[in-house]
Amino acid sequence: MKIPFFNYPDLFKNNKNDLIKIFEDVGNRGAFILQKDLSDFENNLAKYTGAKYAIGVGNATDGLQLSLMAGELESNSEVIISSHTMIATASAINHIGSVPKPIEVGEDLMIDYNEIEKVINDKTRAIMPTHLNGRTCNMDKIQLIADKYNLDIYEDAAQALGSTFRGKSAGTFGIAAAISFYPAKNLGSLGDAGAILTNSDHIYEKILMLRDHGRDPKTGDVKCWGVNSRMDNLQAAFLNFMLSNYDKIVSRRREIAKLYDSELRSIEQIKLPPAPSNGDHFDVFQNYEIQAENRCQLREYLHDCGIGSMIQWSGKAIHQFRNLGFKENCPYTDGLFEKILMIPLNMFISDDDVFEVIKTIKNFYNK
Ligand SMILES: Cc1ncc(COP(=O)(O)O)c(C=O)c1O
Repeated sequence: MKIPFFNYPDLFKNNKNDLIKIFEDVGNRGAFILQKDLSDFENNLAKYTGAKYAIGVGNATDGLQLSLMAGELESNSEVIISSHTMIATASAINHIGSVPKPIEVGEDLMIDYNEIEKVINDKTRAIMPTHLNGRTCNMDKIQLIADKYNLDIYEDAAQALGSTFRGKSAGTFGIAAAISFYPAKNLGSLGDAGAILTNSDHIYEKILMLRDHGRDPKTGDVKCWGVNSRMDNLQAAFLNFMLSNYDKIVSRRREIAKLYDSELRSIEQIKLPPAPSNGDHFDVFQNYEIQAENRCQLREYLHDCGIGSMIQWSGKAIHQFRNLGFKENCPYTDGLFEKILMIPLNMFISDDDVFEVIKTIKNFYNK
């Protein structure tokens, strides 16, 4: 493939010398579990996002689940989510004995805040919006509803490190939020890793225990039921290094998004994500997800021309998992899922690659 959707070996190769040095350093110190590299990364991440605390965990899915556990959601309560999210958002809720309630997405592909009130009932306890594709939801609208009905907010910020709404970082609005460092994420580790952000002292103390078998970090005494979900110290050391370059990563991603925006905006058969400069939002473009007419044919054409693309979640919205018991109907989202397609946007593609993608899409639509 000439321009793969994401080239995993490049994540290592592009930083090989630094990463090998870090590996040797951590290895020589035998610093594998809950060591200084992890606390350094947690401090740096908290500083970067403006959260009071960051806690490294095994992955963002665990991060969501631990957040809900720390928030002590009653079992059988309902949590409202967007239907355009990873199954992880829903499974975290399911695993703590609550019920995920997927609803329609709006034009920006994220939870349609106009639909939230329609599904609130006496079992509803929380909203868990997903900041999709590196864009923060309109949290003012969501907060208003949460305040009105006394609901908690937990954020799925897996895709949104560094994105902001009205100057405030994704992951800092609710009780707690999870960020993913899956290798293909904007800040990608060399394996699985995640973090929880919170501004609450109580939630922070609780999660420190929950991620480590319920043990008190100072005494080792078991204080509650927990799990084992500690971010590997080695991954934390890699991530510390990558975080120091994160501003460059974000600005390159926004640069590519700007190129796509200016070159593809005139094609009426496709709808683009909002442009990089758009009022209240600062987007970090985890993905560049377009809505395309004749999506499957376009994807095939791109593939034949050596260009990778992806349909998010393998093309299935949450409510469409009837096998998992979902009964909700979201016709607008169903329509979107016939059109959505992600085109290459990452650190490893050149401007020439971007123009090749643009030219190929133009050719497909005879532009
Ligand atoms: C929106 C969303 N939520 C949750 C997750 C889960 O993250 P992780 O793979 O770190 O568990 C992802 C990862 O792709 C995601 O995109």
